Amino acid sequence: MKFLIINGPNLNFLGIREKGVYGDRSYSDLIDLIEKKADELNIEVETFQSNGEGEIIDRLQRAYNEKVDGIVINPAAYTHYSYAIRDALASISIPKIEVHISNIHQREEFRHTSVTEPVCDGQISGHGFEGYLMAMEALIKLCTKN
Ligand code: DQA
Repeated sequence: MKFLIINGPNLNFLGIREKGVYGDRSYSDLIDLIEKKADELNIEVETFQSNGEGEIIDRLQRAYNEKVDGIVINPAAYTHYSYAIRDALASISIPKIEVHISNIHQREEFRHTSVTEPVCDGQISGHGFEGYLMAMEALIKLCTKN
């Protein structure tokens, strides 16, 4: 089983940006945790981060061609307004879970809306880095159900 983990803009700045919200662990700490979890679950994992909307869309389309089994995506700020990423997610029938490190529903009003969540199979918000690991476990269940 092969999963793709996509992180959107500014998530490469984890450990630097708004530590009170996102904590002091870095993006590479996050990748280490994800890779360790993939080993435990005995799955293949590829991670991808981009600050650009088009690059995220290109990566999603490539996932379709590569026959990736599941996608975990944190679209970051694009969550709240990118109809283009939403359309890219909607066009591929691979199981996908949206993750947010912070609880977007308890923050500023503009973060309460996710335009991408309705085209995903679920959302995990507010569980810190652990949310990605929870999403990987949920994806395994979704993939084995199909
Ligand atoms: C985020 C929440 C978004 O509102 C924000 O723009 C981010 C990170 C999160 O993981 O909590 O960049 O997706």
